[in-house]
Amino acid sequence: MNISVAGTGYVGLVAGVCFAEVGHTVTCVDVDEEKVKLMESGVSPIYEADLEELMQKNYAAGRLHYTTDYKSAYKNSDAIFIGVGTPEQPDGSANLSYIAAVARQIAETVERDCVVVVKSTVPIGTNDKVEQFIQDFLVRDVRIEVASNPEFLAQGTAVRDTLRAARIIIGTESEYAEKVLKEIYEPFGLPIVSVNRRSAEMIKYASNDFLALKISYMNDIANLCELSGANIEDVAKGMSFDERIGGKFLNAGIGYGGSCFPKDTKALQYLARQYGYELRTVTAAVDVNKEQKTRLFQKANDRFITFNRLKVAVLGLTFKPGTDDLREAPSLDNVALLLERGADIYAYDPVGAENFKQKYPEGENLNGTITYVSSPEEALDGANVCFIFTEWPQIRSVAPRVYQETMRTPIVYDGRNLYDLKEMKRAGVDYYSIGR
Ligand code: UGA
Repeated sequence: MNISVAGTGYVGLVAGVCFAEVGHTVTCVDVDEEKVKLMESGVSPIYEADLEELMQKNYAAGRLHYTTDYKSAYKNSDAIFIGVGTPEQPDGSANLSYIAAVARQIAETVERDCVVVVKSTVPIGTNDKVEQFIQDFLVRDVRIEVASNPEFLAQGTAVRDTLRAARIIIGTESEYAEKVLKEIYEPFGLPIVSVNRRSAEMIKYASNDFLALKISYMNDIANLCELSGANIEDVAKGMSFDERIGGKFLNAGIGYGGSCFPKDTKALQYLARQYGYELRTVTAAVDVNKEQKTRLFQKANDRFITFNRLKVAVLGLTFKPGTDDLREAPSLDNVALLLERGADIYAYDPVGAENFKQKYPEGENLNGTITYVSSPEEALDGANVCFIFTEWPQIRSVAPRVYQETMRTPIVYDGRNLYDLKEMKRAGVDYYSIGR
């Protein structure tokens, strides 16, 4: 199949590369000339395991192309996938202007029948509007069908999640579109669930919001564990054996972040309100998450008279390991509070520091300072207190005695429950975690 993909972010680029990997001919379209050159030279614009290797392999095999020239890409495609961003707007709704821009380009350039596939996460009913929009602007007499094909990849494991997805969801309104999509996905050998467009759009939101709810539920229970003397890890383990609950996404911590759960929970709340309906479960998940992010800071704030001129080690900045993404990362909320209170922060993150510097440049910020260091040990050296925000392996592997030996006062607030309580106690560390 001849496939074009609009947008080379996480969704578009990974999809394009994986389509090429299973044998399709793929052209990835992006407006950014520099980015296209970078990709042609075999460099991925995003940090993602296995991606560069597959980019280079499929580019060399002639199955994968990159271009800014959308006209020549779109005019001859069997299918055009839209994988551009749908960022959150101040009122919680999704910004669809990038999708609209691509839809219009498609309408003005296609020269043969094709299926336009929306991969970006979009509110229920958007595919109908995209189809109408394309019809309104269509220049030639060709048949364009719009289909929904939400993606379920997680950052850091995007390639694996795509090539070995739990399921492929296709939402179509015609046999023609269904047939084209089934043909595209046939070589993946994965279960395909074929539904109508609105159901496909809803499956994506319902899945993400369910996972966000699962995490917030565990955080809620973790907070109750702390008050009542139970241990959330033991509780989660006990729950995990029940197949109806499942063992995944039961880790309590400092709240979910990233570009998806925070955005998709708010977008579904917004959508529900448009229909005059209040989605109370999702609202609860959002509220719990907001408070959870700074719970550890509040605990530390109760213990210390002041953070002014205290040396604070911050281990981990990204919203999760395996990515350089800082969007909605709990570290952002906590670092802001610490800097406001005059802390001198020594921050370590194996890949996220460069992005963090965009917001907080090295040196003075608010009432405090921030220094970026290249190892956890450097951050801990002489520190009065340590906060752990991301479970990177490089942080997980710091032995308990290192905190005791390196810090001025070994006081650790761990938002990811990386350590065994007894081991930390044995090492003489004053250790606070979540729900234990
Ligand atoms: C999420 C979904 O997992 C993907 O299926 C979906 O395709 C994607 O959103 C999307 O909509 O594009 P992602 O945001 O990359 O993927 O990351 P996750 O691994 O799901 O983690 C999200 C957040 O939840 C992280 O902050 C993580 O630390 C937190 N989390 C996860 C927990 O606090 N506890 C857990 O048990 C699991």
